[in-house]
Amino acid sequence: MYALTLPQLLEQVKRPGAAVAFNFISLDDMLGIVKAAEVESVPVIIQVTQAALAHVGIDYMAAVGMAAARRARVPVCLHLDHATDFALIMQGIKLGFSSVMIDASALAYEENVKATRRVVDVAHSVGVSVEAELGRIGGREDNAMGDGPDWLTDPDQAEQFIAETGVDALAPSVGTAHGIYTGTPAVRFDLIRAIAVRVDKPLVLHGGSDLPDEVVREAIRSGIRKFNVGTDLRIAHARSLKKMFDSVGDVSASHALAARQTGIEAVCEEARKKIRMCRV
Ligand code: 13P
Repeated sequence: MYALTLPQLLEQVKRPGAAVAFNFISLDDMLGIVKAAEVESVPVIIQVTQAALAHVGIDYMAAVGMAAARRARVPVCLHLDHATDFALIMQGIKLGFSSVMIDASALAYEENVKATRRVVDVAHSVGVSVEAELGRIGGREDNAMGDGPDWLTDPDQAEQFIAETGVDALAPSVGTAHGIYTGTPAVRFDLIRAIAVRVDKPLVLHGGSDLPDEVVREAIRSGIRKFNVGTDLRIAHARSLKKMFDSVGDVSASHALAARQTGIEAVCEEARKKIRMCRV
């Protein structure tokens, strides 16, 4: 099967309900994520951040994502996450990403609109969907620092942003942060609901790791349609390898091979938990 756009994939997810978007950084992540979606029989979004691409290059990651989308027995959307670089987004579109995120949220509102509109114009002309961010989501996308200030999204401005940019999905800032939380996250369900009534596009919850099940479910009931998870997969993967090597107490070529399967299974188990969490 070919990779679907975000709206095409979400058409297959009943309301209220969300598709999980899993960040991958390796082939083994991808194998674990797709296996989880197949076992749970759900459409899945696989995504990679600009920073995660930097290690190997976008061509490599696109090839892994395209192979996964072709082989998967469930619908797949291949999404470029948190991209700030216009040239990289264009490259991603050429390489087969079916959906892209332009994250110009660090810019002033007018500049965010301009940068987002520029991506939407090109992406839509070739049938690729676009997600954008309004307000600032805390934490850091590619590690577990959980630092940085938050700026919550204003519902009126969100409505205006959608009209001015034509994006297909909006990532608002509603109290979550990327990475592991340092305290109890105060997710603003009221704000999600207020944005959802003004915005007729899917809302995306970033910073999905380390959130209690009930918080995730309430966020989805309030209007979230795409639920992003990265850090928890990294931790599950790393823990599984530590446990395995601690128990064998040695390293060898066969242990290295076994470790790959261990890692894939750990990612799969964690991804299945997140998928089940989204059943409201
Ligand atoms: P976490 O790493 O906190 O799960 O966040 C993932 C994310 O929002 C990617 O955009």
